[in-house]
Amino acid sequence: MKNQIILNDLNYIFKNFDKKENFYNSSILITGCAGFLGFYFLHFFSYFFEQLNIKSIIGLDNFKLGRPIWLDKLPNRNKIKIHSFDIAKDNLSKIKNADEADFVIHMASIASPSFYRIYPLETLDANVWGLRKLLDYYKRKSLKGFLFFSSSEIFGDPSRENIPTPEDYRGNVSCLGPRACYDEAKRFGETLCYVFSKQFGSPIVIVRPFNNYGPGMKLEDKRVPADFAKAVFENKDLVIHSDGAPRRTFCYIADAFLGYLKALAYGSFEYFNIGASKPELSIKELAEIYLENGRKIAGYTGSIKFKKSLDKEYLTDNPQRRCPDITKAKNLLNYNPAIGINEGVRRFLEFVKISGGEL
Ligand SMILES: NC(=O)c1ccc[n+]([C@@H]2O[C@H](COP(=O)([O-])OP(=O)(O)OC[C@H]3O[C@@H](n4cnc5c(N)ncnc54)[C@H](O)[C@@H]3O)[C@@H](O)[C@H]2O)c1
Repeated sequence: MKNQIILNDLNYIFKNFDKKENFYNSSILITGCAGFLGFYFLHFFSYFFEQLNIKSIIGLDNFKLGRPIWLDKLPNRNKIKIHSFDIAKDNLSKIKNADEADFVIHMASIASPSFYRIYPLETLDANVWGLRKLLDYYKRKSLKGFLFFSSSEIFGDPSRENIPTPEDYRGNVSCLGPRACYDEAKRFGETLCYVFSKQFGSPIVIVRPFNNYGPGMKLEDKRVPADFAKAVFENKDLVIHSDGAPRRTFCYIADAFLGYLKALAYGSFEYFNIGASKPELSIKELAEIYLENGRKIAGYTGSIKFKKSLDKEYLTDNPQRRCPDITKAKNLLNYNPAIGINEGVRRFLEFVKISGGEL
């Protein structure tokens, strides 16, 4: 692996991960392995395969949005089994050694609103039936950990007094509309996890990612951090499809990933917000950070423009603010994101520059 940004990130994660021994001699099964977060999971476990004494890694993905080339360039590639597999439809018992997994990570689900609106049923199915199949398959096996990727979107558009949003806020979500296939499927997925943990004692941990960004995100992904990185490298204007006022906190992937690892190693039922609690930026402020870093890193000469999206549903039910309360993860997981937004955007843009935008 030659990309220095990834190497630095992996070493940062390894150095700061205090539960390495939990993974010794373990087999790991990852669904949705070809996506943005899969990029870090597969790189981490394959790069530290020997140090962590990993037994085997199985990656499953239906490659709905394409099969990235990095999958075949992973370190220790011959020790990783990647299968084309639809979690909602295909049979897990056909996957060799799936029954031996010690850790299961369920990430399969399109995460970009622009794409899950095109594939609403598939999105719903992966989070509900796909999850149910996994939970059923593993309910009587002695897992060390099962991680379900829910989302900050389960909170919908929180009221003012629920910002920063704690885990126990019940949400303000529409069960109808273009985002419901994702938000409601994640909510139902959480209920499934809760019921299985109660009924079978399964060691399930739910994580709710809050706006991660960084290397591994496809530039065509159509989430804002990817749109801005794409614009910088094509030297086109940074286009904002709202009035620029919605606010978010953004969490650099290496920090978020550390939170996911710690959650996976936790070992009993819990649910955590994983993200950065500050700074809460408007989309316009985020664009300014890309613009500044783009000028330094890539000689960017574009500017910020406002334009209505061609996608008529782009802003329907779009939350006005998204900012997590991460006290619980701090206390129970010793989770402390430390990479600021300026440094994170710099790393993302450097990564894209080195890789030429190819994934
Ligand atoms: N990245 C974030 O900031 C963020 C925020 C909230 C929630 N999440 C959740 O985390 C998980 C991973 O996110 P990501 O950013 O890597 O998403 P992504 O869209 O980049 O990757 C998801 C992967 O899942 C695969 N997939 C979809 N349906 C599948 C199916 N039925 N069977 C097998 N594979 C399937 C896709 O092909 C893709 O490779 C998702 O569940 C997402 O909802 C991520």
